Amino acid sequence: MTLLDRATSSVSDRLSATGTANALELRQVSKMFGALVALADIDMIVKPGERRAVLGSNGAGKTTLFNCITGDFAPTTGSIRFFGEEVAAFPAQERIRRGLRRTYQISLLFAGLSVLDNVYLACCGVSRGRFSFIRPGRDDALMASAESLVQVVHLDDVRETKVEDLSYGQQRQLEIAMALSGAPRFILFDEPAAGLSPTERRELIDILTGLPSHMGFIIIEHDMDVALRVAESVTMMHNGRIFKEGKPAEIEDDEEVQALYLGGEEGLGHG
Ligand SMILES: Nc1ncnc2c1ncn2[C@@H]1O[C@H](COP(=O)(O)OP(=O)(O)OP(=O)(O)O)[C@@H](O)[C@H]1O
Ligand SMILES: [Mg+2]
Repeated sequence: MTLLDRATSSVSDRLSATGTANALELRQVSKMFGALVALADIDMIVKPGERRAVLGSNGAGKTTLFNCITGDFAPTTGSIRFFGEEVAAFPAQERIRRGLRRTYQISLLFAGLSVLDNVYLACCGVSRGRFSFIRPGRDDALMASAESLVQVVHLDDVRETKVEDLSYGQQRQLEIAMALSGAPRFILFDEPAAGLSPTERRELIDILTGLPSHMGFIIIEHDMDVALRVAESVTMMHNGRIFKEGKPAEIEDDEEVQALYLGGEEGLGHG
C-alpha cells in the first residue's frame, strides 16, 4: 500500500459504490455577474480518474467554472453531477463531504503554524465535516494521515517548519497536501504552477503525475508545457465558453488554439 493509498483508503470503495458514473458532468452551466456572462452554456464530462487541463486567457471563466463546481458560487443555471449525483444546489461543504477538493489561486494557509499542523487541521476539518479548532486531543489516525500526505508532496524535510518560513513553491506543495486530505475522489487545482521556478515546476509535475491513478483532477494552467505533461485531455476556454476540447497533441497542433495562444500576451493574457 502506498502512502497515499493509506491516506485515502476509502476511495476505491466509494468508486465501486458509484459504478460507472462520470466524475463530473456539467450541462448548460452558466454564471452571470450582473450583466457580465462569466460562463455560458458549459457542457463538460470528466471521467473517473481522468486528468484534464483547462486553459484560457485571463477572464476566460476558468476560476468561475471551479467556483461553480465546488459550490463557492451557485451557478445561475445548469446541472452539475458529481459521480452521478446532482450537486448544483448543494453547499460547498456537502460537495467536500462527497470527495470534491480544490486549491485556490490565492494561498489560504495558516502562516504561523507548521507544515504538519496545517495538513493535520485540514484532515480534522474534513473528517468532522467542518473546521473546528476545539478538539479534546490529538487524533493519532488523522496525524498519521497528515504525515503521509506531507511525504506525498515532498515536504517531509520541512514538516516542522512554519509556513511563513517556506519558499513559495513549498507553500504551493503544502496546498496540494491539504487538498488531498480526507480521501478526495476528485481535485480542482487552480494554477498551482503560477509563480514557480523551473525547478519547482518539475517538482509539481512529479507530485501531480505521482498521484494514484483513481484520483482524477482538473488543473487550470497557463503554461502549456505543464498542462500537457500532467493532463490526458485539454479544455480550452475563451470568453466564458468552451472553445475546444481534445487530447493534448490535438490541442497543441490546432491552428485556432495556436492563433489564440501564440498571439502573445494579447492572445493569452498571462496573469
Ligand atoms: N465575484 C465576481 N464578481 C464579479 N465578476 C466576477 C467575479 N468573479 C469573476 N468575475 C468576472 O468573471 C469573468 C471570469 O473570471 P474568472 O476569474 O473566472 O477568469 P479566469 O479564467 O480564472 O482568469 P485568470 O486567468 O485571470 O485567473 C471575469 O470577467 C471576471 O472579472
Ligand atoms: Mg482564475
